[in-house]
Amino acid sequence: MAVITLHRGDITADAEADAIVNAANESLLGGGGVDGAIHRAAGPELLEECRRLGGCDTGDAKVTGAGRLPVDYVIHAVGPVWHGGDRGERELLASCYRRAIELAAERGCARVAFPAISTGVYGYPLAEAAATAIAATRAALEEHPEVDEARFWLFSDDALQAFERALAA
Ligand code: AR6
Repeated sequence: MAVITLHRGDITADAEADAIVNAANESLLGGGGVDGAIHRAAGPELLEECRRLGGCDTGDAKVTGAGRLPVDYVIHAVGPVWHGGDRGERELLASCYRRAIELAAERGCARVAFPAISTGVYGYPLAEAAATAIAATRAALEEHPEVDEARFWLFSDDALQAFERALAA
């Protein structure tokens, strides 16, 4: 039985995961927030690899090595910008988690660390994002038994509480 675990803090400190998921943008060329933290911790090699990928559509994900990070892969997922909820945001966000778990399974990653995609600069409301993240992750873990743990890293008490509620629901 796969598990979903919640952690408070910086995702780049996770040395137990096999892959870390990044909340990237369509360019895959870096940015602020968790993307900035991952690129800083991984070193310039990560950006070099990202440049060769030619970007990524919203709702999709692409894989690179992890540079200096203590994991095997970074999975760059592009979440939707929140526009109020009627522009397919929920399906696009769910798709990020599905694609990330699919790619992790293809590469034999048993433990995958996730940030709360789209809940920073992209403005997705925390409660809604948490509910979608947990539902999509649960469904994807059932389809991909190779992945046995999804480790969510929450960067604030509010985010942690939103995910605790979603997990208990
Ligand atoms: N570890 C874990 N979570 C973090 C960390 C960290 N080190 N830093 C921030 N968060 P955001 P988005 C949380 O803005 O909304 C970038 O510039 C943060 O509190 O990183 O998907 C990209 O290049 C929030 O809950 O990503 C894109 O342009 C969550 O991670 C754009 O931001 C996501 O916040 C993507 O926006």
